[in-house]
Amino acid sequence: MIEKFVDRNDELRVLMESWSSRPSLMIIYGRRRVGKTRLLKEFMRGVRGAYFLSRLTNHADNLRGLAGAVGRVVEGFGAGKEYVSIDALLKDAWSSGVELVVIDEFTYWVRVAPRVMSELQLFVDEYLPKTRMLLVLCGSLIGVMERDVLGGGAPLYGRRSFSIKVEPLKPWVLKEFLPNYSSMERMTTYAVFGGVPYYLRLIDDSVDLVENVGKLIVSKGGPLRDEAEFMLREEFRNPSVYGRILRAMASGATTLGKIADAAGLPHTHAIAYLDNLRRVGIVDRRAPLWGRRGTYVIRDYFMNFNYSVIEKVRSLMELEMYDEALNEIRKALPTYLGRAFEEVVRDLLPILKRKGYVIPFTKVGKVVRKGVEIDLALLNERSGIAQLIEVKWSKVGPKDASRHLRNLERKAEYLGFTERFNEVKYLIIAREGEGGEEVVTLADLDL
Ligand SMILES: Nc1ncnc2c1ncn2[C@@H]1O[C@H](COP(=O)(O)OP(=O)(O)OP(=O)(O)O)[C@@H](O)[C@H]1O
Ligand SMILES: [Mg+2]
Repeated sequence: MIEKFVDRNDELRVLMESWSSRPSLMIIYGRRRVGKTRLLKEFMRGVRGAYFLSRLTNHADNLRGLAGAVGRVVEGFGAGKEYVSIDALLKDAWSSGVELVVIDEFTYWVRVAPRVMSELQLFVDEYLPKTRMLLVLCGSLIGVMERDVLGGGAPLYGRRSFSIKVEPLKPWVLKEFLPNYSSMERMTTYAVFGGVPYYLRLIDDSVDLVENVGKLIVSKGGPLRDEAEFMLREEFRNPSVYGRILRAMASGATTLGKIADAAGLPHTHAIAYLDNLRRVGIVDRRAPLWGRRGTYVIRDYFMNFNYSVIEKVRSLMELEMYDEALNEIRKALPTYLGRAFEEVVRDLLPILKRKGYVIPFTKVGKVVRKGVEIDLALLNERSGIAQLIEVKWSKVGPKDASRHLRNLERKAEYLGFTERFNEVKYLIIAREGEGGEEVVTLADLDL
């Protein structure tokens, strides 16, 4: 397990900027377990301030907690005093010389005492501009943060000076977490757990991925056994409907109509649910390269793996048939990875570009047209160059490579790429293998 802090330079820079341009209000939010608290802790190594973790109790208890946190920076702060509002407390904190106040899991506080929002508004409007204070509000309920803290109509709307949405880590930093794995094992792990540092830290890279899945998700008492369901329950009021949508998507539905039908929902409702899932980063909508109909994908790898693979062995898990469950997972994994690898390749595009394997592009997408599929097409509308990519979660030898390339060429011809573009390039991205210039493998990318 690593102690090292990985990446997050952009986020730290924005935090430093908000610190130098005090007074400011900073909103930090992002998926559960993505590394928000750690980011704040790293920032606070260099800047002294009060840090408070809100609780799901009540207003008075949170006020007492916050006063206590300020008291750890200014000795004797609020001694014998019982605050009834957060604005009064923050005013006193500033008067006592505190220049940084961080309130973590702020959404918990909002949940138990919505009036904390209007009290904060009062502080942010009337008092904060007269100070040199940085106030940071952080939370993991993305819906609540976007709707109640950042959203139009919310008391703080338009007043924020900065916000950071903390995203999962990029695939190329997995090296730091899993030094004993090969490139292939690291990308397999990424396709299953995503770039969520909390999960990555739990993985033991001296045993293989399936054993980790067994220990962390399948086994009784495994720390991630109910994580997917928990995420939906925390974020949404009717988690079971969201579960149905994700199950429909995991079984292959990608268009609104198919997802709605498979989940047993009217189309208009399905749109709203998909929108919410999109907002919290679990789902993504992909505009088509041409044509009208967009498609939806499960963007969060951990959720995707849970609904595609783990759900199917839940009954074995309930019966505590551990070995049987692991066997089923081993069998299901190649199919899952075959699909998920297309998403991984999307996430790898910056590296592929930097290393010169792919062209600079203005548009990217999968092509599904006239009964033909191309995994990934990169289009550069300025230069008139297109690059068509076949993604293979397998070992590709020289013979396979030339077969895949011929196939791509035929598809390009058939769909009119060769006519519409000045130049069409081809590339095969394979898990492993060899086969010349137009084949790139994970080992080539040194991941
Ligand atoms: N950039 C990073 N590099 C290395 N480890 C990290 C990084 N970010 C987070 N971690 C580790 O991952 C774990 C989870 O991070 P953290 O608690 O900050 O997540 P969080 O977003 O605050 O989660 P929650 O929503 O549950 O509060 C911690 O053990 C933390 O040390
Ligand atoms: Mg946290």
